[in-house]
Amino acid sequence: MQGKRCVVTGGGSGIGRASAQRFAAEGGQVLVVGRSAGNIDETVALIRAAGGIAEAMVADATAEADVKAVVDRCVAAFGGIDVFLANAGSPGTNASIFEQTVDEWNEVWRDNALSSMLAVKHAGQPMVAQKGGSIILVSSAASLRANAGAISYSASKAAVNSLAQTAANAFAGTGVRVNAILPGLVETKMTRKVFEYARERGKEGRIGHMVPLQRAGRPEEIAAMATFLASDDGSFVTGQLYAVDGGVSSTHPHGKIPV
Ligand SMILES: NC(=O)c1ccc[n+]([C@@H]2O[C@H](COP(=O)([O-])OP(=O)(O)OC[C@H]3O[C@@H](n4cnc5c(N)ncnc54)[C@H](O)[C@@H]3O)[C@@H](O)[C@H]2O)c1
Repeated sequence: MQGKRCVVTGGGSGIGRASAQRFAAEGGQVLVVGRSAGNIDETVALIRAAGGIAEAMVADATAEADVKAVVDRCVAAFGGIDVFLANAGSPGTNASIFEQTVDEWNEVWRDNALSSMLAVKHAGQPMVAQKGGSIILVSSAASLRANAGAISYSASKAAVNSLAQTAANAFAGTGVRVNAILPGLVETKMTRKVFEYARERGKEGRIGHMVPLQRAGRPEEIAAMATFLASDDGSFVTGQLYAVDGGVSSTHPHGKIPV
């Protein structure tokens, strides 16, 4: 990641923060983007305290003018843009199929699918001009099958998968790569309630019991895949969907089979 000029949206917490820290630890320069100042400033402070290079920018990943301004700021501050990790997203509600509302779909699709499209559109332009770059979309294992997230969320993340494939092909011959990461359950602000609920009932050990690796993931484990795709190690990889989910998307629901 040495010298790579990076944007991370939703960088004030969870997977975004862990990825921004890892990019910077490996020598990248990182523009940490979030909707409000406090958390992204904290991410930048953590990176700087560890000797890394980072700046914070308040912006809404779903507002086109903001996304364009983010890309312009990265180019102005660091001299170009090599990596855009489109990580900002929102989870939706557990409403049943008959309770789904237009408001929820507009909000969740805007936060997950539209934000991804704007990242591709605006990061893609300078990357095509400089003949290279890596755009990484953060989808979800919930995009592949039912019952791992809200109905609106799963569908919107499936759209993100399709965008990774179509955009990678739209950029054919330009050197710009687009891939998606599909995390499984990871403890972050977004999923904290699930973990707290289980802990309160002494059922923490049940979290991830259907997952081959038998546990939830850590933000750093998603950041590791983001770093591979962002770096030159991923130079022959585009249009791909990488589940980083402890194996859950490889399996049907099952009772535990002893080894
Ligand atoms: N945690 C999990 O189990 C899990 C699983 C699969 C996918 N994901 C995906 O990972 C990504 C990161 O989520 P997380 O788990 O780290 O949760 P998180 O809540 O810690 O991080 C999401 C961040 O995105 C920011 N954000 C949301 N909408 C935004 C917008 N419009 N503009 C700017 N920032 C915005 C939030 O403020 C927050 O900081 C999301 O896209 C999420 O859907 C998470």
